[in-house]
Amino acid sequence: MSEHVVVERDEGILTLRLDRLDKKNALTRAMYSRMAEVLEAAQDDRGVRVVLIEGSAQCFTSGNDLGDFLQAPPTGLDSPVFRFMRALFEFKNPVVAAVAGPAVGIGTTLLLHCDLVYVSRDARLKMPFVNLGLCPEYGSSLILPRLLGQAKAAQLLLLGEEFSGEQAAAWGIANAALEDGAATLAKAREMARRFLGLAPSAVEDSKRLMKAPGREELRQVIVAEGELFNQRLRSPEAIEAMSAFMQRRAPDFSKFA
Ligand code: COA
Repeated sequence: MSEHVVVERDEGILTLRLDRLDKKNALTRAMYSRMAEVLEAAQDDRGVRVVLIEGSAQCFTSGNDLGDFLQAPPTGLDSPVFRFMRALFEFKNPVVAAVAGPAVGIGTTLLLHCDLVYVSRDARLKMPFVNLGLCPEYGSSLILPRLLGQAKAAQLLLLGEEFSGEQAAAWGIANAALEDGAATLAKAREMARRFLGLAPSAVEDSKRLMKAPGREELRQVIVAEGELFNQRLRSPEAIEAMSAFMQRRAPDFSKFA
């Protein structure tokens, strides 16, 4: 159980709301486990027609809790973070996300596995994996070059450059950029509600068809990235980068050159 994930059911809409604002909604093992449990249970619940993932009107998530990464990194592909991502990846009904403020690391990666994504114009998305001594995760090294081309994907994945909600919408990572966080949350809920009026198994069949091409290749990439990511979490480079964040200083990678 994690009190930092609020779970709500409104007719067929199941909402997962990240609620750890004092830490910018950084995701702990307990939060991943809670979200995984809820998604796994919803997979067999015919009453759940759509899932909505959101943070607050100011903050989606600052990504994985860096203290957790240092003290208790994932041990394998059954660890809470991978269990949550697998449940999202396998989810048969549509998943809608609402993003305002920061969406860092897995906060951006998970959007690549949602069906509809709404962002505030000034949302700040970022995948600083290399900056943390890590590598891309959960299919992003395959999905982003295909979606954006190698050049732009390199900016985002190798340099870890931040991009805005407006850019995310222009590049096809999000469906639309809204004027602010409140409008973004409202729009995502409105779009989630639309699924309630559609034929349930036609939606499910159509999502399965859309996700089918290249799925086996994607699964293989996810496993390869996950194994490397777990190794890299224990590397001196990653330990230096994450310790630097916790100590509020710039990392010093000069000794690894
Ligand atoms: N893990 C653990 N704690 C985190 C965190 C994370 N990913 N992100 C933020 N926090 C904590 C900060 O340590 C701080 O805690 P404190 O008040 O006890 O000192 C609090 O949340 C507020 O963060 P702060 O950095 O002061 O907020 P900000 O508005 O200046 O910046 C971010 C917001 C998201 C840009 C910034 O916190 C950040 O870059 N976080 C790390 C992101 C990251 O690298 N995630 C991992 C990706 S794999």
